[in-house]
Amino acid sequence: MASRLRGRDFLAIGDLDPGDLSELLGLAARLKAGEDPGTALSRQSIAMVFLRPSNRTRVSFEAAISRLGGHPIALFDREIEIGRRESVSDVGRILDRFVSGLVARIPSDRDLRGLARAMEGPVINAMTDLGHPCQILADCLTVQEAVGRLEGARITFVGDGNNVCNSWVEAAYVAGLDLRVVTPPGYGPEPGVLASAAGLAGPGTGQVLVTNDLDQGLTDTDVIYTDVWTSMGQEDQHEDRRQDFGPYQINEAVVGRAPSGVRVMHCLPAHRGEEITDGVIDGPHSIVFDQAENRYWVQLALLLAVFSDSGDQA
Ligand code: CP
Ligand code: NVA
Repeated sequence: MASRLRGRDFLAIGDLDPGDLSELLGLAARLKAGEDPGTALSRQSIAMVFLRPSNRTRVSFEAAISRLGGHPIALFDREIEIGRRESVSDVGRILDRFVSGLVARIPSDRDLRGLARAMEGPVINAMTDLGHPCQILADCLTVQEAVGRLEGARITFVGDGNNVCNSWVEAAYVAGLDLRVVTPPGYGPEPGVLASAAGLAGPGTGQVLVTNDLDQGLTDTDVIYTDVWTSMGQEDQHEDRRQDFGPYQINEAVVGRAPSGVRVMHCLPAHRGEEITDGVIDGPHSIVFDQAENRYWVQLALLLAVFSDSGDQA
């Protein structure tokens, strides 16, 4: 039976219902345990547009597409110049004539949706300024592995209410998480995401607390999660942000105020010495490198679910 995700875009965590999420995580776990993924992408090409830098996302997608027998074609801003050399919609219409689907990292979520509308082939969000759903898929697998469960897991996101945080907010309702978002005043998650995420299909147990009080977030938590204070595209705000986020650094003292078994996660790249110290990221609570590896496994599962004809693997 083919996956329900077959042929569909994956633009946000909110595109998944709890069944889709558990299908993807289950398949990713089986693949990681050694199940043969097969060659569902044999003789297919997948375009990948990266208008922002990437290490994990690009390499893990390229490796996963190749593992499935497909051919990844990576395009960068200097080549494709979306919106300058050619309209968003024309880029999508042209790529659609050559490839089976698109993995896109572009700043504007609106442009991502424009590409998805222009293409019949599936489009996968490899990060916009609004969300980073592939990251949060990998994070959900990592939480399942490290905490032993996803529904009811207590996740404390500390830092900027950015793209990664917005996708966590959606995941909270789809997966039934107890999510605490701790930010400096004025840096909370996108209000539109907070409002719409509460209406997503889920087990009904998801909750999101937004606070400026770090200790409120650290109480009884399973995971402390952080991300850079200055995301790509915000470089001109770096100095102001360093000031505003200083009290929210994840250092040894902060981890010491959380339960002793707490896990520390970070989507990476890390700005060591800003949002997280060397002692924490390289310390005994950190699971950040296992977390990064899981990008490969969940994306292998996602590609299979979206592109596999037979759905044998999904
Ligand atoms: N976490 C993540 O998306 O990393 P890259 O920016 O290196 O792809
Ligand atoms: N919030 C970060 C995530 C990087 C993976 C950024 O957008 O730069």
